Amino acid sequence: MFAVYASAPSPEDPLASLIVGERPEPEVPDGFVAVSVRAASLNMHDLWTLRGVGIKAEQFPMTLGCDGAGVLADGTEVVLHSVIGDPAWIGDETLDPKRTLLTEKYQGTFADTVVVPARNALPKPAGLTFAEAACMGTAWLTAYRMLFVKSGLRPGQTMLVQGASGGVATALIALGRAAGLRVWVTGRTERKRALALELGAHESFESGTRLPERVDGVFETVGDATWSHSMRALKPGGVIVVSGATSGPNPGADLQRLFFLQLRVVGSTMGTRDELADLLRFCETAGIRPRIGAELPMDQAREGFAQILAGETAGKIVFTR
Ligand SMILES: NC(=O)c1ccc[n+]([C@@H]2O[C@H](COP(=O)([O-])OP(=O)(O)OC[C@H]3O[C@@H](n4cnc5c(N)ncnc54)[C@H](OP(=O)(O)O)[C@@H]3O)[C@@H](O)[C@H]2O)c1
Repeated sequence: MFAVYASAPSPEDPLASLIVGERPEPEVPDGFVAVSVRAASLNMHDLWTLRGVGIKAEQFPMTLGCDGAGVLADGTEVVLHSVIGDPAWIGDETLDPKRTLLTEKYQGTFADTVVVPARNALPKPAGLTFAEAACMGTAWLTAYRMLFVKSGLRPGQTMLVQGASGGVATALIALGRAAGLRVWVTGRTERKRALALELGAHESFESGTRLPERVDGVFETVGDATWSHSMRALKPGGVIVVSGATSGPNPGADLQRLFFLQLRVVGSTMGTRDELADLLRFCETAGIRPRIGAELPMDQAREGFAQILAGETAGKIVFTR
């Protein structure tokens, strides 16, 4: 079948191991379903996989793509939850030590067919297109958990999103605005800051700028490049929710500020199946839709990978089949 995959770990030049080609038809184990992929979205995670980060060398070749939406054999339209855990695990799947994300152990969604446990295929809301639904399973679910499960923020408080144009960042802006928070965003270029305002941010600022006042919570996926700004941006008692470290993973902790101002740093990863179901319902009831910055046929996936590698995002990059 057609597939976009990583042939081997390539730490320095991730696109060197990106293959747009053919992979064997997948087998469907008991308890799993085959989903005919209609749309799948690109995440920074796919670049990490090409680099060999978070995946064992023996797992290559690996079909890329953590997110997707498609159709089951009986015609049911579905959205995929890409956290695959131990069937015996009870409770929050993101805490299961044996969990993996699609593309870490199981083959991903950039293909004609993806095979997932039956419980990982949720009904697609009729109001979302396949392309929109394909944005939900990773970036949007991560943003949903960061904001509504981990931050403890409430309507009327001020949130700062570090980064304007990324998948998680654009989701945070839309979700925060819909939930009644005051949404402030930093962006690296004028164009990205304008995008944030268009998506519903109340104000956007150059990265690292001193803000008009301190905020209740900061949402971090950037890491090293923005961390000290995030720490300085917080009110006493404020919270940083962090789910990524694109620019580098070891920011100075600024410990004195952390304890003296009684700040909290909270980690967040993906989200549960129930949270994905709630996110889908929230999108429907609040009328919010993901910003798709680029939509490409899957056989032109290389162009999308080049865009995310260069930081030329304007929302999600979606591949259609
Ligand atoms: N833990 C989890 O479950 C989880 C889930 C999803 C994503 N993540 C992680 O979150 C990160 C973002 O993922 P994504 O898919 O949203 O990526 P993306 O779409 O490529 O977005 C990258 C974002 O990072 C910002 N950025 C990158 N380098 C920066 C720098 N040097 N200075 C300031 N801002 C910078 C960009 O801001 P501008 O708009 O200003 O360019 C943009 O908003 C990745 O590290 C990913 O692995 C983690």
